[in-house]
Amino acid sequence: MSTVRDHLGNARALIGSTRAALPTPALVIDLPAVRRNLAEMAARMEGLPAALRPHAKIHKSQVLGQMQLDAGAIGLTTATIWEASAMIDAGLADILIANQVVGPVKSAELARIAGLGRVTVAIESEHSAREVSAAAVHVGTNIHVIVEIDVGLHRSGVRSVEAAVALGQLIDSLPGLTLDGLLGYEGHCMLEPDRAVRIEKATAANAILVDAADAFVQAGLSTEIIAGGGFGTWDITGANPRVTEIHAGSYIFMDAFHRNLVPGFDVALTVEATIISRDGSLAVVDCGRKSIGIDRIAPEVVGGVASVRFEHGEHFVHEEHTALELASGSDLDVGDHVALMPGYGPTTVNLYDIYFVAEGETIIDVWPILARYGSATCGLGPVR
Ligand SMILES: Cc1ncc(COP(=O)(O)O)c(C=O)c1O
Repeated sequence: MSTVRDHLGNARALIGSTRAALPTPALVIDLPAVRRNLAEMAARMEGLPAALRPHAKIHKSQVLGQMQLDAGAIGLTTATIWEASAMIDAGLADILIANQVVGPVKSAELARIAGLGRVTVAIESEHSAREVSAAAVHVGTNIHVIVEIDVGLHRSGVRSVEAAVALGQLIDSLPGLTLDGLLGYEGHCMLEPDRAVRIEKATAANAILVDAADAFVQAGLSTEIIAGGGFGTWDITGANPRVTEIHAGSYIFMDAFHRNLVPGFDVALTVEATIISRDGSLAVVDCGRKSIGIDRIAPEVVGGVASVRFEHGEHFVHEEHTALELASGSDLDVGDHVALMPGYGPTTVNLYDIYFVAEGETIIDVWPILARYGSATCGLGPVR
């Protein structure tokens, strides 16, 4: 049986070859574009009061996480305890989990990694506060906590400022926990295409977070961290003088979804695919929804050489096939490669074991997407 290590070893044999030589579908990152995006975001953040703690769920890679830290990030954000473990185990030692971590196995893992670096977790319930506190006490570590407040997304978070204060007071009194402040993620504003509406909605969401911060101050609770924000609201939430950090992440890769929302960043993540069938202007590639994220929006073909076909009211993206409409006069044929920009980056990355790292057409390295193995094993041991 082959292992993750075998995959990586086999893939390394392709270092030095070109994109066109990759077996497809293959996930490719354009390293110069990643570097440009990191520098662009760092430059934009310089003018804002908030710091950047980029969301690592987008890439699930310790190498890219380290590059973000080198570019000035204050730490990393994760969505899962397993992403946090992968980052901490790799020595990236200031991780904030912007999500609820509930259940005994996950809480025990949270307590373990809190012994290896600074770990902060969002909490919205008394159940979770007590569970996480008990786990920390059991192994003698200390977990930093921020209270999550719902600022309009209606996903998680306490539903009122009063509830936030009450939970903050409880957390403050529990052993093994240090209360640091608040998280209010305005995810319902992030994808609003109309910038004026996005600003209006995000400002209203931020006001709820600031109200909670005021109430924390009045109650004598810590407001060291007042967090929120994503890529779509980086310059709205990040400009709020009360917000200490934002969690934008998609800027590192861009995808079809974010490209039109926040201009000025380069497409750094693509899926290399091979044309396996051609009939007139129709070309079908060996890449479908099992190898490219299509949340909310279809992939786009890089370079305008083709576009994803629209049929029967939806984009023609099957499990292992995507139908393309070739540009007129195209001589692309069976065996040729095209590069697809994912509709959504994070759900694309999660489908792969490795990145092929490219500079121009040349593959210069192979990086594992290790954090997904943590989530696959649920902390119960290595996958073979
Ligand atoms: C809690 C949280 N914070 C921040 C983000 C920011 O991600 P992005 O950069 O894609 O907007 C997300 C994305 O889903 C999120 O769920």
